[in-house]
Amino acid sequence: MPSPESRLSPVPAMQPIRTLAVTGGKGGVGKTNVSVNLAVALAELGKRTLLLDADLGLANVDVLLGLSPRYTLADLVAGRCTLEEVLIEGPAGLLVVPAASGRRHMAELHPAEHVGLVNVFSDLERDLDVMVVDTAAGITDSVLTFCQAAQDAAIVVCDEPASITDAYALIKVLSRERGVNRVQVIANMVRSQNEGRGLYDKLSRVCERFIGDVSLNYLGAVPQCDWLRLAVQRQQAVVRAYPASPSARALSEIARRAARWQAPAAPRGNVEFFVERMIRQGAPA
Ligand SMILES: Nc1ncnc2c1ncn2[C@@H]1O[C@H](COP(=O)(O)OP(=O)(O)OP(=O)(O)O)[C@@H](O)[C@H]1O
Ligand SMILES: [Mg+2]
Repeated sequence: MPSPESRLSPVPAMQPIRTLAVTGGKGGVGKTNVSVNLAVALAELGKRTLLLDADLGLANVDVLLGLSPRYTLADLVAGRCTLEEVLIEGPAGLLVVPAASGRRHMAELHPAEHVGLVNVFSDLERDLDVMVVDTAAGITDSVLTFCQAAQDAAIVVCDEPASITDAYALIKVLSRERGVNRVQVIANMVRSQNEGRGLYDKLSRVCERFIGDVSLNYLGAVPQCDWLRLAVQRQQAVVRAYPASPSARALSEIARRAARWQAPAAPRGNVEFFVERMIRQGAPA
């Protein structure tokens, strides 16, 4: 007969939230579509998911999901609303933090505003498994900071010379200046699986040769797909609007792969931790 003590289960440790920043260097490679669909697919897999629109200049996560936010990240930073008020619910119970579109002054947050973000994120009392962060185009300080603060950065590339050179430049800065030594790669708008693999091989060769201290991991390829464009027009995630389409299947598969990732060796806390880390590392010296 087990003693009463042995029947008591240990207090479950708080599961560290997984954070994935989706980036790419170049504009228009599909970062927002990849972020939105990965987040929706992860939510459909039962992961409690938060999608943070960190494209502070030209936000459009809410547009892609057909949401009409009352408040945005700009209101949050300015203290005009609480985090609970800025969160809106998307498909499959996904939580979305929308950004303010076309607000130039939001494009680069000041350190004082970062502190505001820490305070509000620490108010978040919901349990989360995954946070997906959609970042802006370019290799700006805020993009680097979001990537550095996340446990994983997924770089979206497509078959254009500028996409590969921008992805390479971004990985180089992340590695040399921000200590990021692991990068996930997603090929988008590919015409074949081989094309996706070829893009990854090309990027990985150049990184190995000229950067060295960074390991790349191929997450897979998303085909060029008219269903995805149609879903964009209908302001829905393709994984929901057309789940059987080639792009939706590929994105769902990538989400399943991402959901199976090993938890980081050292527990890294929660959303609050993510934001604090982001701020500490992003604050100007
Ligand atoms: N797999 C795909 N198949 C077909 N069209 C796609 C695919 N991925 C993205 N697109 C199209 O490419 C365009 C750009 O996509 P998206 O907005 O996701 O890119 P982005 O990298 O977030 O751009 P930005 O740098 O402006 O933030 C969109 O109009 C979208 O419809
Ligand atoms: Mg975008």
